[in-house]
Amino acid sequence: MSQSANSHARVLQDAIEAHKGGRLLEAEAAYRSVLQVRPDDPDALNFFGMLRCQTGHQSEAAEFLRRSVEVDPKNPHAWLNLGNVLVMLNRDEEARTAFTRATELAPDLAMAWFNLGVCLGRCKQPLEAASALHRALKIEPGHLPAYESLAVVLHRLGNYEEAAEVFREWLAHDPDNAMARHMLAATSGAETPSRAADQYVRVLFDDFAATFDENLASLEYRAPQLIAERLTREARGDAPLDILDAGCGTGLCGPLVREVARRLAGVDLSAAMVEKARARGCYDELLVEELCAFMSSRPAAFDVVLSADTLVYFGALEEPLRAARRCLREDGLLIFTVERLNEEQDSGARQRSYRLETHGRYSHCERYVGAALAGAGFGGISIETGVLRRERGSEVSGLIVLGRAA
Ligand SMILES: C[S@@+](CC[C@H](N)C(=O)[O-])C[C@H]1O[C@@H](n2cnc3c(N)ncnc32)[C@H](O)[C@@H]1O
Repeated sequence: MSQSANSHARVLQDAIEAHKGGRLLEAEAAYRSVLQVRPDDPDALNFFGMLRCQTGHQSEAAEFLRRSVEVDPKNPHAWLNLGNVLVMLNRDEEARTAFTRATELAPDLAMAWFNLGVCLGRCKQPLEAASALHRALKIEPGHLPAYESLAVVLHRLGNYEEAAEVFREWLAHDPDNAMARHMLAATSGAETPSRAADQYVRVLFDDFAATFDENLASLEYRAPQLIAERLTREARGDAPLDILDAGCGTGLCGPLVREVARRLAGVDLSAAMVEKARARGCYDELLVEELCAFMSSRPAAFDVVLSADTLVYFGALEEPLRAARRCLREDGLLIFTVERLNEEQDSGARQRSYRLETHGRYSHCERYVGAALAGAGFGGISIETGVLRRERGSEVSGLIVLGRAA
């Protein structure tokens, strides 16, 4: 190696060291000085591309990485980096090509198969995605994100038996994972818990919060409207009310009931959902807390408790209904929705009160809901049926339930 080649190699090495050490400005200057003299150095292009991506310049990063793989098409890591940046730019088809190239060059690189699998899922190729994710797990059993992605793909395909197997393996490597535990019960039908674990709910909705409103609108979600409409019918002419929205989520119920509320409080386990509700600006009080614990701690504090699409995360309703009764004043109203377990369509339903469905929510028998309400101290019980939303093209039938604190 000539002296000048030697010194460029040293500058590049220093740049990489600075990059690894988080000294990004120093690294950037060093990469630029190498590229000024050797604009086609594939390593400098690769690492500088990654740095530009890290500093938020994705389009430019993609250009540097593209040049890197053009100069040295045999570096699987550069293809992998290029694929990752293209995913960030939502250029999924191009990303798929880059990840495929990485798997061809390095067939034992689990990360390449994993990224290819996730990308194929985004490209709506679920069977190919499952196969790539299986391959990642074969190379690296215990690759936790691969279990999650594979289980999601299989679940979407309606292949619950295989999904259950993946949840089981995932749990073997990550025994405390609430998502894997809950979804194993949902997809296998074994060991149904009486309610979803708080940690499962938190993770699910913290992840979902950013897209919740948009997603639910596309499903023609109507539970908040059905509840608000039921409240207006029942509370016509009443004085302004102290209302609790139990499991308020992003606060879709808020604007619908604000007008009849003297004070409107909301409680939810997910901090990210509550943040969205706060941005709506129509709640007087918002708390990140478990709803049974919250309601039990506020005896006779509310005239109305609303709960839209939240008690679907409880199988046994006794605990939340008793807690709701405790926080309601005499004659106060509880109105909630749950998904309906159709006793005619489920031969085993007569023996049971609720069922954990494969999607992870519980459905409830009307008969059980009425009995649980009465047992918790509610009278004037009225249960109506209605369509809560559409899912995979079908209507989701629900119970709109009302009880008065007796
Ligand atoms: C499907 S969302 C519905 C949100 C809102 N009620 C609506 O209709 O848009 C269910 C919400 O219930 C919350 N949740 C579920 N179980 C809960 C619990 N035990 N305590 C507090 N919040 C809970 C979740 O975090 C989530 O925000």
